[in-house]
Amino acid sequence: MQKNKNLIINGNMNMELLLNSVKKPDLYSTLEEPFWDDPYIAQQMLEAHLNPDWDAASYNHKTIDQIVEWQIKYLNLKKGAKILDLGCGPGLYCTRFSRYGLDVTGMDYSGNSISYAKKYAETNDLNIQYIYQDYLTMDYSDKFDAIFLIYCDLGALSDSRRDLLLQKIHKALKPGGVFVFDAFTRFNWEQQSMRNWYMSESGFWSPYPHLVLEQTVDFEAENVLLRQYTIIDSRGEVTTYNLRDHYYTKQNILLLMKRYGYHVQDVWSDLTGKDYEENTKCMGIAAKK
Ligand SMILES: C[S@@+](CC[C@H](N)C(=O)[O-])C[C@H]1O[C@@H](n2cnc3c(N)ncnc32)[C@H](O)[C@@H]1O
Repeated sequence: MQKNKNLIINGNMNMELLLNSVKKPDLYSTLEEPFWDDPYIAQQMLEAHLNPDWDAASYNHKTIDQIVEWQIKYLNLKKGAKILDLGCGPGLYCTRFSRYGLDVTGMDYSGNSISYAKKYAETNDLNIQYIYQDYLTMDYSDKFDAIFLIYCDLGALSDSRRDLLLQKIHKALKPGGVFVFDAFTRFNWEQQSMRNWYMSESGFWSPYPHLVLEQTVDFEAENVLLRQYTIIDSRGEVTTYNLRDHYYTKQNILLLMKRYGYHVQDVWSDLTGKDYEENTKCMGIAAKK
């Protein structure tokens, strides 16, 4: 995230700042910038998670119900089975898994989401362990029957961080435990490279009236689609957010998982177990230790 307050200097528009803000991003200089650290955006994210009908930040809640139901059946998870939900957000999956009697741990490093999740569990008498932690620093051994990473979050990580996480997850699984996650394919975006703009009175990016300049850049060689949002608000503040999505093919997933010692059991078109189709926008994957 890049924040600048000086769009107007001595009554003149700082065009250099504007040009720099919207220039084609460099993939390697824009990694690992958590955009949800901003308190306003964190609140917007929480609202997006909790809206039952939106497919933003989380899948809509009907889909979440279907995912949980299918995964419990598919993985044959019995009461007391130990599961870990990485990037659990406000606990939409943890809550449901816990109601099926599983022994649930949720980990996230959004303070806002974790405190919502903890309060919800307390109020609803659910015994869920919520941990406020960067999952790249976790250190479990042979502990979980299943580990989940949902909403294509693996794709947001750079290759080195992704590889580290895959090793940590492998270590954290019991022998025979399963890692369940989803990943975008190239078909998720109709246009790979595009530019767009819109005005908003107030919205996801800012509580102030603002202009959004949006561009997506396809780094084909790296299989990464980078979405850049430059927000210019009524106070003259210019903020640029870069969001990356690594997209995969089924073949790439099989190779990647093999490299880290997993055996891919199944690849679906989503995490509800829908049959895999060649041009699916997303894949659901179950990989065994
Ligand atoms: C797109 S949301 C998905 C949330 C949840 N899996 C769902 O589908 O409802 C991604 C979540 O991952 C969390 N997250 C991202 N990177 C993380 C990290 N390194 N460690 C812990 N949590 C992380 C974010 O705070 C956010 O809550």
